[in-house]
Amino acid sequence: MKVVMIGAGYVGLVTGACFSEFGFDVTCVDVDETKIRALEKGEIPIYEPGLDDLVASNCKAGRLHFSTSLADAVPAADLVFIAVGTPSRRGDGYADLRYVYAAAEQVALNLSGYTTVVTKSTVPVGTGKEVARIVAKHAPAHAEWDVVSNPEFLREGAAIEDFMRPDRVVIGAESDRAREQMRQLYRPLSLREVPMVFTEIVTAELIKYAANAFLATKITFINEIADLCEKTGANVQHVAKGIGLDGRIGSKFLHPGPGYGGSCFPKDTLALAYSARQHGTPLRIVESVIDINDRRKLAMADRVIDAMGGLSVVRGKKVAVLGLTFKPGTDDMRESPALAIVPALMAAGIEARVFDPQGMSNAKAEIGVGPYYASSAYDALDGADCLAIVTEWNEFRALQLDRVKSLMNAPVMVDMRNIYVPEEMRAAGFTYYGIGRGYTGQSILTGQAEAAE
Ligand code: NAD
Ligand code: UGA
Repeated sequence: MKVVMIGAGYVGLVTGACFSEFGFDVTCVDVDETKIRALEKGEIPIYEPGLDDLVASNCKAGRLHFSTSLADAVPAADLVFIAVGTPSRRGDGYADLRYVYAAAEQVALNLSGYTTVVTKSTVPVGTGKEVARIVAKHAPAHAEWDVVSNPEFLREGAAIEDFMRPDRVVIGAESDRAREQMRQLYRPLSLREVPMVFTEIVTAELIKYAANAFLATKITFINEIADLCEKTGANVQHVAKGIGLDGRIGSKFLHPGPGYGGSCFPKDTLALAYSARQHGTPLRIVESVIDINDRRKLAMADRVIDAMGGLSVVRGKKVAVLGLTFKPGTDDMRESPALAIVPALMAAGIEARVFDPQGMSNAKAEIGVGPYYASSAYDALDGADCLAIVTEWNEFRALQLDRVKSLMNAPVMVDMRNIYVPEEMRAAGFTYYGIGRGYTGQSILTGQAEAAE
């Protein structure tokens, strides 16, 4: 079968490469010429572990191609996937569907024979119907086609493993022919007994949003429990373990931190909340989650300011911020907590010295001038009055503490990912603050008083 993947971004490039690894002939098409030219030269435009080898081996085998032309690729395709961005729309937060609809129109104009048009982008309920309407309007009379929804559940940083070993594959299809094509495509996974959920298109669309909203809620829940732990002296990691061992709750996604970020949870919760309000059934839990998470990112800057002695004394002091991406294993800065924290610290008059193993160039584009962009973790720590760990990259888990201490002006650490053990840090001479197990202080930016532990 021939597959066309429209959008060679985090999802399109990974899923396209994985389908070619299954043995299918895949062409990834993108409007971004620079991206396609780079891919043709064997350069991977994003950081995703293992993707370079996967792309190289499938290109070498002649199964994976890149193009900027849908007119060249679509006519021969059996399946065309739309995997373009669906960012938040300015103003109301609803998904901006213009890229999806533009791609659908371009696909339609080039259809020939029978083609399954699959939406892989995360799209609100009802988008499939609109895609079908667009295709019907622009497709040539001789073309036959079906529209399918096949949302993607991979995580950045673990994308290939998630795609190859998913918990399930969800397929919204409304004709036997389309269902059969999707079955064939995912046969390598169903042979490994990966559950396949076949349903209607609207249900598949809603499954994706409900999954992301639930996971965002789970993180927000443990973040609030972490706050309560700080007031009561309880240990949030033990609470997470104690509740997570209950099979009905599960241990995953119970790590407290600076608030969830990324290109998906923030935008998808917003789009779902908007869509629910439009349907007259507001999702009050999801709306609270959005609000709590936004405030949490700012509250993290408060913690750093507190740790450095409070707002009245921090002007001119230096903070080393380690980790800028929204999670480790990616260069993606979209909605990263660091994008709220670093500017808030600078607004308080603090000099920010920032470092990230993969996110420096995206961080420079997002944050711009202001921080000192360090060449390593140790460079960032030089002369710092506080170390703030925002993202739990492995290389920050094993810092040489003696070297850290000797470089810093004051050995103060705010560990927003709980990667160090409080007792060990205190024994090593640090004033250490984690999450849900040892913060004491007064919130400034959010105006909330935090009781001493
Ligand atoms: P991305 O921004 O990394 O990539 C999108 C690509 O689409 C870009 O390269 C852009 O140039 C291209 N594009 C836009 N319009 C086009 C057109 N008309 N023709 C050809 N190419 C076009 O986005 P992403 O992170 O890969 O996300 C894509 C979709 O998948 C979103 O809906 C997102 O919510 C969803 N999703 C993302 C993830 C993730 O981890 N990033 C996981 C699951 C689902
Ligand atoms: C998330 C989902 O996990 C994927 O299933 C989904 O396909 C994807 O969104 C999407 O729809 O695009 P991703 O955003 O790549 O994947 O990364 P996650 O690992 O889910 O992390 C998201 C954010 O939550 C990060 O900022 C992370 O630090 C935070 N997080 C995660 C926590 O604070 N605690 C946790 O326990 C887990």
